[in-house]
Amino acid sequence: MPKSTRGQIILAVGLPGSGKSTYFARRGIHPLSSDTMRLWLLDDETDQHYQPWVFGTLRYLMDIRLRFGRPRNYVDATNLSRRERRPYFRLAAQYGYEMQAIFFDVPATVCRERNRRRHRQVPEEAMDRMVRKLKPPTLEEGFAKITVVRARKAEVRSQKSGVRRKTAAGPF
Ligand SMILES: Nc1ncnc2c1ncn2[C@@H]1O[C@H](COP(=O)(O)OP(=O)(O)OP(=O)(O)O)[C@@H](O)[C@H]1O
Ligand SMILES: [Mg+2]
Repeated sequence: MPKSTRGQIILAVGLPGSGKSTYFARRGIHPLSSDTMRLWLLDDETDQHYQPWVFGTLRYLMDIRLRFGRPRNYVDATNLSRRERRPYFRLAAQYGYEMQAIFFDVPATVCRERNRRRHRQVPEEAMDRMVRKLKPPTLEEGFAKITVVRARKAEVRSQKSGVRRKTAAGPF
């Protein structure tokens, strides 16, 4: 029999540019967002100082939502490693919630290209670090459900052919 829960904590997991915020905005969802938190606390959503405060505040607000018994609780942050995701598992266990993930399984080449085109750009070195850090969510980690979101085939193809073109035009 399925375990009874008060609701879900739903974590986005994905690289910068993988489409997390767009996904939520298109569905009219207002997640707790690390970028919004930076805007509120530091007046700049790109400011990477005070990370413990940013995520501590986010978790504090999540704690309050769970106390209130809110049924669906979304987090818009990269949530790349198990270590980053673990505090939400603790909160879920404490308040009797289920953990779910939305995994943005978008190739790094596509994320990099989207990142280059947008207004707010994550530096390339930061992107490299994050690609290395990404650990996809699994059922074994404790997620009851994992929704996978992928890029359109056409976008992935155009990236691949872009790489080939660059190679073909390279110095060799
Ligand atoms: N499904 C999609 N297809 C094509 N482009 C997309 C898609 N989703 C998002 N984009 C574009 O990619 C860029 C990054 O999207 P978005 O800001 O949603 O990413 P993000 O995962 O929230 O990144 P970050 O972690 O840096 O906040 C935006 O310019 C957006 O318009
Ligand atoms: Mg975002």
